[in-house]
Amino acid sequence: MSEPHGKAPQIDPVTGYGTTGHDWNGIHELNTPFPKIVIWALVLTFVYSLIAWVLLPAWPVGRDYTRGILGLDQHEMALERLQKLETGRTEWLSRFKTEYFAALQADAALMARAMPAAERLFLDNCAACHGNDATGGPGFPALNDHSWLWGGDPDVIAETLHVGINAPNDDTRWAQMPAFDWLERSEMTALAEYVSALPQGTADANAPAATLFADNCSACHGETGAGGLANGAPSLTDGAVIYGQDPDTVMQTLRHGRQGVMPAWADRLSEAEINLLAIYVADLSGNKTEPGE
Ligand code: HEC
Ligand code: HEC
Repeated sequence: MSEPHGKAPQIDPVTGYGTTGHDWNGIHELNTPFPKIVIWALVLTFVYSLIAWVLLPAWPVGRDYTRGILGLDQHEMALERLQKLETGRTEWLSRFKTEYFAALQADAALMARAMPAAERLFLDNCAACHGNDATGGPGFPALNDHSWLWGGDPDVIAETLHVGINAPNDDTRWAQMPAFDWLERSEMTALAEYVSALPQGTADANAPAATLFADNCSACHGETGAGGLANGAPSLTDGAVIYGQDPDTVMQTLRHGRQGVMPAWADRLSEAEINLLAIYVADLSGNKTEPGE
């Protein structure tokens, strides 16, 4: 290819662009310079990056990096923000360790702040068994009703949370529904019918099953079956059920007994968190009732 030799610039007839005047073996070079806006954009980006290198963290240096004149550090900023939140939380949460339940409950501003945190704690630790809305399920009692095994006052609930129910520790609350498989089958059937009719109030108080109930069941469930003895045995009259109160399920309960396990939380949650949850759970039922009421 020969050296291009200059010619006076012309207009290219096909594209309408001017030419540079360069002629490569009869091929003319069009004069289409880079658009100015692109050049400027490049220059601006370059200038910006120079400024950023100087001001902001930019270059990796071994295991570290240059901090920049501003000394900004997203990691430290995030940590600081977390720490601030944590300090705020520790401040109000620590009150749950030292103050009386009644005083805490009376402080509306504190409650407004604490209850959303309590709800998160409940969802994280309790909802798996008791349900997101604390309505329970087969084998797991509802916590949002007035039917209590042990009691619904915050201090009683706090104790339940501390030690658990039938949990593997020395202090646990203990309760067992014994198996009654030694009864005659006909007696069990009659008892199952009787017990399943208790919530409707249609159980026949003069039936032989009533005597069976008085002899075998009332020591734990109360004379009328209404519970309320705070011994872990539920009311059988209030319609709230753990396992079920239809005749078939009651037959299962009588045949095999029941012993639900509620973990102890003393090792997993702090004192303050347990008290926070105790108030939260007590509030779920809008409660101030004694067991069985
Ligand atoms: C592994 C399942 C499980 C988890 C998790 C669990 N519970 Fe329970 N909880 C139970 C069972 C089962 C019972 C009933 C035990 C029984 O039948 O005697 C119970 C009973 C209770 C009671 C007693 C209710 C009463 O009527 O006296 C309270 C209060 C309670 N749970 C609150 C909580 C809270 C708060 C949490 C979260 C910190 C929680 N539970 C987490 C299974 C669980
Ligand atoms: C030693 C005390 C005790 C005696 C006696 C006893 N129970 Fe129970 N019963 C319990 C306890 C404690 C529970 C709760 C078990 C659990 O939650 O795991 C229970 C639970 C039940 C339940 C399940 C209720 C539900 O909500 O699902 C039924 C039904 C029941 N008992 C009926 C009877 C009948 C009928 C008798 C008499 C034949 C009887 N119980 C005798 C302690 C007792």
